[in-house]
Amino acid sequence: MKVYFVGFGPGNVELLTLKAYRLLKEADLIIYPGSIIEESFLDEFDGEKINSYGMRLEEIVEIMERAVKEGKKVVRVQSGDPTIFGAVWEQIRELRKRGIDCEVVPGVSSVFASAASLCIELTSPSTPGVAIVRPAGKTLREDYLEKLAKLPLTLVILLGVDRIEYVVEKIAKVRGEEEPCAVVFHASREDEVKIVSKLGKIAEEVRKRKIERTATIIVGKVVEGYDERSHLYG
Ligand SMILES: C[S@@+](CC[C@H](N)C(=O)[O-])C[C@H]1O[C@@H](n2cnc3c(N)ncnc32)[C@H](O)[C@@H]1O
Repeated sequence: MKVYFVGFGPGNVELLTLKAYRLLKEADLIIYPGSIIEESFLDEFDGEKINSYGMRLEEIVEIMERAVKEGKKVVRVQSGDPTIFGAVWEQIRELRKRGIDCEVVPGVSSVFASAASLCIELTSPSTPGVAIVRPAGKTLREDYLEKLAKLPLTLVILLGVDRIEYVVEKIAKVRGEEEPCAVVFHASREDEVKIVSKLGKIAEEVRKRKIERTATIIVGKVVEGYDERSHLYG
């Protein structure tokens, strides 16, 4: 008895892993987050489809439990990679309490799909790393955006484009308005939009394009590429 939590990637079927594709093909029941994964993305999979948008955790878990106990193959679709802001553990925790095993299948996160769309690296020879964060909100009290901005990291902000003014204000206080940044809406999809700009201008450009959701914000020098050489190629 098992539920498969499958990373669907950023919304382009070609970016599914072979394993995700096989499991979706074999699934009797596919539960998907309709707010981010449109039902049409699942057209080539024949299993029964249920949109979990607006459902309570208990309801989703009950549907999965019932189906698994009826001997059905259940795939719980997660956008991008399940382990990044996927609220996956809450579901696994509940299923385990009911004696149901779970398997997580990784997917292409919007973090990486957005960087790929921009044809950039998130790191450079002199960038120690990346922070993947979200702005504070209902469930997150403190986002530490200002503190993180003080470190020489590339900042990738998910779930934040609707509050871009707030995000920009916090980071620009430290890095200034000329800091390079980008916003990618619907990375990898047909209607993808990319905006490459500076902190001082990005909010206005995002509002002009009427982007309010399903977009990734990337802040850091790497948005403009880099001149250094690594030691990888001698
Ligand atoms: C609930 S989080 C889930 C993230 C997901 N687990 C991942 O790894 O991409 C949803 C957020 O991911 C980002 N996102 C998801 N799909 C995207 C896409 N195709 N293009 C750009 N950003 C996307 C947006 O910031 C959105 O608000």
